[in-house]
Amino acid sequence: MANPSLLILPGDGIGPEVMAEVRKVIDWFGSQGTPFDVSEDLVGGAAYDAHGTPLTDATMAKAQEVDAVLLGAVGGPKYDDLDFSVKPERGLLRLRKEMDLFANLRPAQCFDALADFSSLKKDVVAGLDIMIVRELTSGVYFGEPRGIVTENNERVGINTQRYTESEIERVARSAFELARKRGNKLCSMEKANVMESGILWREVVQRVGDEEYPDVELSHMYADAGAMQLTRWPKQFDVIVTDNLFGDLLSDLAAMLTGSLGMLPSASLGLPMANGRPKAMYEPVHGSAPDIAGQGKANPIACILSFAMALRYSFDMGEAADRVEAAVEKVLADGLRTADLLGEEGRAPVSTSDMGDAIVAALAD
Ligand code: NAD
Ligand code: IPM
Ligand code: MN
Repeated sequence: MANPSLLILPGDGIGPEVMAEVRKVIDWFGSQGTPFDVSEDLVGGAAYDAHGTPLTDATMAKAQEVDAVLLGAVGGPKYDDLDFSVKPERGLLRLRKEMDLFANLRPAQCFDALADFSSLKKDVVAGLDIMIVRELTSGVYFGEPRGIVTENNERVGINTQRYTESEIERVARSAFELARKRGNKLCSMEKANVMESGILWREVVQRVGDEEYPDVELSHMYADAGAMQLTRWPKQFDVIVTDNLFGDLLSDLAAMLTGSLGMLPSASLGLPMANGRPKAMYEPVHGSAPDIAGQGKANPIACILSFAMALRYSFDMGEAADRVEAAVEKVLADGLRTADLLGEEGRAPVSTSDMGDAIVAALAD
């Protein structure tokens, strides 16, 4: 059987720095008899610099063919003034849309060694293990009409929040399925009190629950109250399902429960391909971190844990994924910290590359 194929798109800023550490982990698996066929290409500002577009058609076609895509991060101040249509972020959004990656799994887990470091009290976050399922291919990110138009001599910026029943149904099913494998509890978040799309969202999630998942405990919450509850007592949640924009906000918020945005991985999953594997892209939740790019300060753990999610969700290698997660847990327990995990503490941080090396060494243990 052919080796599993991976397309790596490091992107911009710290993207290539953290991806170099993932390559070490992939190479380690190769050395242990689990080789991957890895190819690499450009996305975001890097692709714009080379080709004048944040994603070429050729790269898009490759992404459709491989078993899984790993993406670092895109964007940066260098590209802030580009036309909207060629901004680095458009490359990422095109990948998500054309691969139809509608279910974005963003787990927030607080490693014991970091429980002291969260900006919340230790007992609020210790042992935290929640999963945010963010709808990723619709909603206000993609709804029409959109644009900047002129009306009555002034400019108007327009975006449209739009969800079809089938879009809500499919992401709800993904979330219910995950809940069944975890704590059997799902909380759906929208703003049904002010948005028609929220009313439909709530109705459809409830119907899918009643008809197909009566065993899963389902609740609904307005997304603003959800943000409050996530900081008040996050351990009340197991799986959360929400739309594209609320999911973007709530997952950055959840990141800080775990200590750092540099810790949060994600899996963006679509429909099964002919080989039974889901269409998939794995990417850290964080961005290109222009403020620390090029300085060897980035935390590679979010990207390495994203590869662990690829092992679990694309390649059915749950034990290998557990191994990567255990290696991360070990280096954190040993006290290794990149700068984002130290805050104002006087201790010297380790570099991106040292953190990667330590994780690879822990894999072998
Ligand atoms: P960001 O996530 O890049 O950075 C926010 C803060 O978190 C910064 O202080 C940064 O230094 C820190 N941080 C992020 N990742 C880190 C890591 N791995 N290790 C240590 N510290 C880390 O968000 P931003 O500054 O709002 O956005 C910068 C650029 O990234 C923008 O162009 C934005 O559009 C883009 N972005 C891309 C993605 C993506 O590619 N998936 C996600 C978010 C933002
Ligand atoms: C994320 C990012 C992206 C989003 C941007 C860079 C397009 O913030 O992956 O969370 O808004 O979805
Ligand atoms: Mn985001």
